[in-house]
Amino acid sequence: MHKTGLLFYNRVMTSENKSILLIITGGIAAYKSLELIRLLRKDGAQIRSILTAGGAQFVTPLSVSALCEHPAYTDLWSLKDESEMGHIRLVREADLIVVAPASADFMAKMAHGLADDLASTCLLAADKPILIAPAMNHRMWAHPATQNNVATLRARGVQVIGPDAGAMACGEYGPGRMSEPEVIFNHIHSFFFNTDQLHGLKALVTAGPTFEPIDPVRFIGNRSSGKQGIAIAQALHDSGADVTLVLGPADEPVPAHLRVIKVHTAQEMLAACESALPADIAICAAAVSDWRPAEFQEHKMKKRSDQSPPAIALSENPDILKTLSHHKNRPRLVVGFAAETHNLLDHARQKLKTKGCDWIVANNVSENVFGADENHAFLITSQTTLEWPRAPKAQIARRLVQQITEFFHDRLESHKAAE
Ligand code: C5P
Repeated sequence: MHKTGLLFYNRVMTSENKSILLIITGGIAAYKSLELIRLLRKDGAQIRSILTAGGAQFVTPLSVSALCEHPAYTDLWSLKDESEMGHIRLVREADLIVVAPASADFMAKMAHGLADDLASTCLLAADKPILIAPAMNHRMWAHPATQNNVATLRARGVQVIGPDAGAMACGEYGPGRMSEPEVIFNHIHSFFFNTDQLHGLKALVTAGPTFEPIDPVRFIGNRSSGKQGIAIAQALHDSGADVTLVLGPADEPVPAHLRVIKVHTAQEMLAACESALPADIAICAAAVSDWRPAEFQEHKMKKRSDQSPPAIALSENPDILKTLSHHKNRPRLVVGFAAETHNLLDHARQKLKTKGCDWIVANNVSENVFGADENHAFLITSQTTLEWPRAPKAQIARRLVQQITEFFHDRLESHKAAE
């Protein structure tokens, strides 16, 4: 699987002729953006840069201009810059807009549509893909205001890289460090070159929990947030696949451009999945309830002091992963998830056999995974086990999609060889 995959990924592709608008906002991580510019320039990209007033406190327009080999822009009201370039033209000429570092304040501006300086005005006028690399103190990152803003931006399709956890310039420790320039560079590179590799393929993704009603107000459910499955649907979409996301009741925002079928119960989820067949890829990331109350009580069950608590009889739910794995319209690649609290790999390997799927993504849910933004996972196939260290769920999703891309590329190659 990996041999041809590596050949595929090592194909020499440079960012030549790609134009990037880089916005540097105020944060100590701005010094890393100088290295990012160097990496991108070395790769052949054209860079136009904007420094916010805060950004210019950390790196000078002179350094940025010298590395970009083009003057850095700083001022919305600069008569010279506006007459020669103009903020709309800056946006129009970019293939991609990168904000690195993205400060908490700047993300708030983006989320709320403020346009009070050159950088925010460009973004409000932007119809181009946007990638941001947040950087801030870990408490600022964790603040609900910032988290809401990030969720809003993600829901608009903005790609968020990082932040990483680690020691901070303020002497504290936690998530908030801007991702390393090489990591941001790789994202930019894969944005340009790994897109559309799944073009022409149909993908079905299940995500979130299922709620199995007991009576009109109660249900059996679980703690799944749907984040990992939504991130996978997004990553498949980014790679050009035609994605249907079958989503159980989750609060997580879903990017508006994804096709979503919302369901509540396992039975509804199965029906929605079958309606999305035929598909080439099925990823079952949903935490489907194994059982449902055998009978739905039409009226709210009342507590009676003279009666002991009611016993709720359960029926078994359909196993969606197993059904898809043995379906007459079986997708060419079926991937299941194993959420375990112990003996992770053994249980996951067992699951690969019992479910009849091709791969299992295994994660230890005792490691604070439910509802978290990060995951630590293993990809288990009949031949290999790959470990993906703890990383944002979006990154785990991209890793999975990279393996999917290699799988279909290998198939294509062996078809060609057989012809
Ligand atoms: O059997 P278990 O729930 O541990 O298996 C997990 C995998 O099976 C996940 O991929 C989940 O989406 C899928 N599953 C399913 N339908 C069920 C139960 C689990 O699709 N009823």
